Amino acid sequence: MNRIRNIVILTGAGVSAESGIDTFRAGTDGGPSLWEQHRIEDVATPEGFVRDPDLVHRFYDMRRAAIQQKQPNAAHMALARLDAVWTDNLLIVTQNVDDLHERAGARRVLHMHGEHLKAWCTACRSRSAWREALFGRPPCPVCQSRSLRPDVVWFGEMPYEMDRIHAALLDADLFVSIGTSGAVYPAAGFVRNARDLGAQTLELNLEPSQGSAMFHETRLGKAGDLVPAWVAEILGGG
Ligand code: APR
Repeated sequence: MNRIRNIVILTGAGVSAESGIDTFRAGTDGGPSLWEQHRIEDVATPEGFVRDPDLVHRFYDMRRAAIQQKQPNAAHMALARLDAVWTDNLLIVTQNVDDLHERAGARRVLHMHGEHLKAWCTACRSRSAWREALFGRPPCPVCQSRSLRPDVVWFGEMPYEMDRIHAALLDADLFVSIGTSGAVYPAAGFVRNARDLGAQTLELNLEPSQGSAMFHETRLGKAGDLVPAWVAEILGGG
């Protein structure tokens, strides 16, 4: 096998599950998943936001406050270590809207579905760092209008930085998917893109995802165990 140089890592809610953040579909520790507790149509679509902005703000205010109480886990720490020492190209493409990759120290991180800790002004299009509630309609720090919304990509909206993601996939020797169910496109299609472009593909997940058959290799287990072991392996510690 050729030496692995350029790596693209896709992460999903499963990588943050051991930090106590609910996953969307498969419940954490047997509890109901997020989409079992809330209707996607109500809280994760532009139409839902128009229909009942208070409901949507309350949902994201609750999640924004919750993630600030959580800590990165061993999987986040291991990926940050890899990012720090890997001298070739590496990109962590996360579907997650929490900031645990960055709080673990990772730098080469791309949030394709947005970030909880940012607010997006639909009047002036600016994005601002945001830690508080949006429910009360606070003014935009840039234009003062009261048109802030969570900077999260909702169903029916285009994910962010798709050009940068495709450029990284084009170059990738290795594509690794961690803690994602493979239920949502375009992220769920990256493994096929990477494979068609000649990359090795590896899945690290608690259970087989919808795209498992596409991967050259699948390892089942908790990210907090699998990711540190894989990072040690790729760094030659074996
Ligand atoms: N370690 C590894 N994998 C885990 C763990 C764990 N500790 N806990 C759960 N998983 C796996 C589950 O088996 C499941 O396959 O993580 C996956 C989580 O899947 P989802 O809840 O569907 O989350 P995700 O794939 O990130 O969702 C994709 O859907 O709702 C939208 O925009 C939202 O970004 C999200 C997208």
